[in-house]
Amino acid sequence: MTKISDTIKTDHRELEAAYNKIISPKDQDEQVRYQNQFTWELARHSIGEELVVYPAFERHLKDGKAIADKDRDEHQVVKEQLKKFQNMKPTDPDFIPTIKALMKNLSQHMKEEEEEDLVKLETALQADESEKLSTSFGRTKAFVPSRSHPSAPTKPPFETAVGLMTAPIDHIADMFRKFPEEKISPNPSTKSS
Ligand SMILES: [Fe+2]
Ligand SMILES: [Fe+2]
Repeated sequence: MTKISDTIKTDHRELEAAYNKIISPKDQDEQVRYQNQFTWELARHSIGEELVVYPAFERHLKDGKAIADKDRDEHQVVKEQLKKFQNMKPTDPDFIPTIKALMKNLSQHMKEEEEEDLVKLETALQADESEKLSTSFGRTKAFVPSRSHPSAPTKPPFETAVGLMTAPIDHIADMFRKFPEEKISPNPSTKSS
């Protein structure tokens, strides 16, 4: 019985953990692995929210449309920053400033989701509805792009048609990227959440 708000919070904590490894790694190899992990996690998390969670705001909350639009706008800013960061070399002097600037926006966004948006959503949902959303969010993350493509539309059904075409390409390229060693699968698209 996992509520959607708890599933989202788990992702947020993973993003923070990867960020901390990026800004204070033990070596550059670890830094690159967590750069890839962070990118993979944030790209899938964002699109999962856009496809599953934000439409639920629109369906269940009176001011849901405004909340969803605000969150999509915030995602757009972070996606642009992620696109810049995802291909940067750690030796680039802008590497740390770029991820720090991204995280400043992302932290604020995650705080609003956790303390405001998702609180409202949970209030409007029955326990089984929240659980179903959580399952659907997890499944959706398995087939969405795992890199940032800020020019892709952020609303269904456009995102499902256009944005998702990049997913298989991202997933194949992920097989050739380094990820943190304790992660189980070398091909993250086979991971279920
Ligand atoms: Fe979000
Ligand atoms: Fe989020």
